[in-house]
Amino acid sequence: MPAVLSPKAATDKTDKSIHLQGNASRLMVELRSAAKTYLNGYKALLDVNLEVKQGEFLFITGPSGSGKSTLLKLLYGQELPTQGEVIVDGCNVGTLRGDRLSLFRRRIGIVFQDYKLIPQRTVAENVTVVLQAQGYTRKEIQRRLEATLKLVGLFAKGDCFPEQLSGGEQQRVSIARAIVATPPLLLVDEPTGNLDPDNSWQVMQILQKLNSFGATVIVTTHDEQLVRRCNHRVIQVRNGRLYKISA
Ligand SMILES: Nc1ncnc2c1ncn2[C@@H]1O[C@H](COP(=O)(O)OP(=O)(O)OP(=O)(O)O)[C@@H](O)[C@H]1O
Ligand SMILES: [Mg+2]
Repeated sequence: MPAVLSPKAATDKTDKSIHLQGNASRLMVELRSAAKTYLNGYKALLDVNLEVKQGEFLFITGPSGSGKSTLLKLLYGQELPTQGEVIVDGCNVGTLRGDRLSLFRRRIGIVFQDYKLIPQRTVAENVTVVLQAQGYTRKEIQRRLEATLKLVGLFAKGDCFPEQLSGGEQQRVSIARAIVATPPLLLVDEPTGNLDPDNSWQVMQILQKLNSFGATVIVTTHDEQLVRRCNHRVIQVRNGRLYKISA
């Protein structure tokens, strides 16, 4: 296993990421009567209550358009709740602005459904942009880059630009970018949408490995087979409301 993602690395004093160890019963995510109505009046989420413990792995399933991505956007502060409260890692996300929001986001690794890679930057640059912004040393950036690209099977593609990659490879670059700083919370929106079953399972194993080191992981997916293969809590979103599928 690459040293960068080993528990030792995660708790190393030189590590700039938040420590992954902690009180397992502490809540990482709390939504209290949260709702999201978009500017055009569309009610995407209605009165959502959810608690996710630190260190938990949670699947969010549900039909297209049900509100899964909107829920992750509320957790990341990309969208503000129009009602209720969204508390993540002790922060009331809806009240964060400017630098406080940027600092808060450093503690979250996010894989966007549409990847959001920077087209003019290489794979290596896309993955390390997070580390550059956080002031890691060049040596540490290189160490983490290599280990993370190896982990997602893209070590040979570091110098490629996103347009030179397949959809599945771009998806894995966005996963590499999300995990390279070993954040305590990973939000992953449809991570296997463009992957074949073998690669999907590989990505799930990476996410589960990070979870086993202490990261809280929240994954949205349409892939019922993948959900069944893993033994994690599942909630379903339907028409903007949450339903418990398994404890
Ligand atoms: N910026 C926006 N303005 C207005 N409506 C929006 C906006 N973003 C999303 N919606 C609507 O909110 C609903 C929920 O969208 P969301 O992207 O959360 O769904 P989803 O469950 O992630 O779907 P999918 O599985 O297709 O990714 C959809 O009906 C969508 O059209
Ligand atoms: Mg979505």
